[in-house]
Amino acid sequence: MKDSSMFKRTHTCGELTSHEVGISVALNGWVATSRDHGGLIFVDVRDRYGLTQLTFNEETEPKVFDIAKGLSMEDVISVKGKVAARSSDAVKEDLDTGGIEVEVSEIVVLNEAKPLPFMIQDRDSATEETRLRYRYLELRTQKMQKNMAIRHKAYQSVRSVLSSLDFMEFETPVLMRATPEGARDFLVPSRLHRGKFYALPQSPQQYKQILMVAGYDRYFQIVKCFRDEDFRADRQPEFTQIDVEMSFVDEEDVRDVVEQLVSSVFKDVISVELPTPFPTLTFDEAIETYGTDKPDLRFELPIIDFSKFAIESSFKALKSAETVKVIVVPGAEGYSRKVIDHLTDFVKEYSSQEKKMPLGGLAWMRCVDGDLTGGLSKFFDEKLRQKIIDALGINEGDLLLATGGERETVLSTMGALRLEIAERDNLQKAANFQPVWVRDYPLFQKDEESGHWSFLHHPFTSPRSEDREKLESDPGAARSMAYDLVINGWEIAGGSIRNHDFEVQLKIFDLLGIPEEEAKEKFGFLLDGLSYGAPPHGGIAFGFDRFVMVLAGAKQIRDVIAFPKTTSALSLMDGSPSEVPENQLKELGLDIRKKT
Ligand code: AMO
Repeated sequence: MKDSSMFKRTHTCGELTSHEVGISVALNGWVATSRDHGGLIFVDVRDRYGLTQLTFNEETEPKVFDIAKGLSMEDVISVKGKVAARSSDAVKEDLDTGGIEVEVSEIVVLNEAKPLPFMIQDRDSATEETRLRYRYLELRTQKMQKNMAIRHKAYQSVRSVLSSLDFMEFETPVLMRATPEGARDFLVPSRLHRGKFYALPQSPQQYKQILMVAGYDRYFQIVKCFRDEDFRADRQPEFTQIDVEMSFVDEEDVRDVVEQLVSSVFKDVISVELPTPFPTLTFDEAIETYGTDKPDLRFELPIIDFSKFAIESSFKALKSAETVKVIVVPGAEGYSRKVIDHLTDFVKEYSSQEKKMPLGGLAWMRCVDGDLTGGLSKFFDEKLRQKIIDALGINEGDLLLATGGERETVLSTMGALRLEIAERDNLQKAANFQPVWVRDYPLFQKDEESGHWSFLHHPFTSPRSEDREKLESDPGAARSMAYDLVINGWEIAGGSIRNHDFEVQLKIFDLLGIPEEEAKEKFGFLLDGLSYGAPPHGGIAFGFDRFVMVLAGAKQIRDVIAFPKTTSALSLMDGSPSEVPENQLKELGLDIRKKT
């Protein structure tokens, strides 16, 4: 047995500077690197605050030197020693502690680490699977430490800003009634009430509305939500929301609070000033101009309508297309045929994944010597070519990329192409942040399979007051009071003004194909609440993890969550989900059907 009593640390590993030269200190931490220079060993000891160089001298401290010789990466050590200035050629300007080192006189090895499955300094030295399995090692990496620190600061900033604006923090139940909200529920079987289930909340939507009815006019919560849905780079089965609800407000009031919150958090956490108010697009504008309701506005490249020129061309396929759109790539001299072929393949691949093919793939022409040439240009006579140049403000060297076909397909394809071009030309500068509100969403969309209306946001969203009569005459044309906040192409938050009127809420359930009886059975408590003095109210929920991703410049959500699930919803570290003993199932009255 080793003597494992440690020395109480006097400083962290990121703290010592030339001010402390000459004093005795004790440090605790992990062995990050070790370099043997004959009679001198240099060890970097690390904790979450930083890194300090330790020196072990064979001549002056032979016993301690011997122990240092046997150190392995990630051993946990406790040392005592004296702070010394480094010689001028050994000073490391980029390190806070780079001006000093600690000459070690005593050491205790508190824990020996086994050979590592990957290098802590190089996160890329293992597959993500391995890193998730040994998440505690990955969390030691500088990158993860930075992301976790940003996350921590964001929690603090959110709480302080919202509290200063009179919001009260609540906790709402994690075991609740299963209600349809959009995604599939995670269910929890009840032992005491066999055959019955709780659901984990997809969001605290109904509780926060109830809190408004209860008179707590400004609510917030940083809360875990659970959705059993398909995964993407920005989705997790359990994720965190900053959930907000307010009474006696309109859309503008909610936007105003959110802008105060977002700009304060940006300032507090990453010292970035975001100009307010944030720009606003309607849903239709976003789709028409960027092909998506999550536009990345760090760059322009708008989608431009080209139908009126296509009709005048002699290219049959384009003439007859429902819609033709172009993107003009400015100064695209570097776009060789090879690049255009690559973009054409991209469009084909995208369309085949989406199972929708715009007519003719991708067509192109470019502006050379004041005229449109190449590709598609032969189908446009000279007059028409000049008309296009003037109308679209085409400049020398610009490249026009066109697709035609069914409207929705063309727009989504062009939206994807826009992002591909931005990626290629490095237009998505990470340090640049472009928030935008998207509003005026349609209230309903037609479910293609069932032919029923389904909600775009959730069933508690209010129609715009001027569109209320369309609930009767033309539900598909009714716009909602829903809004999303998008930053750099990520949907960061979404919310709406709600139906505080019982009758309107019932009408919406009716249109969604939920009869009154069923609505009362499923949402009884909320509907009841709406009949006992419900104030007008609305709110929003942030995907907190996505918000942190943007703040941290992370590309995937798993990089900002301490213990995330894989894309197939597994936790590789603790091995969940797992089978459970038969008696536990029995107690719950459950039988597992054979997997089919
Ligand atoms: P919504 O479903 O739009 O609205 O969710 C709000 C925000 O939560 C984030 N989000 C997710 N983040 C990670 N993984 C997921 N699986 C996931 N799903 C959603 C997104 C999204 O914008 N109750 C309403 C809000 C309201 O109306 O006030 C709601 O939950 O960033």
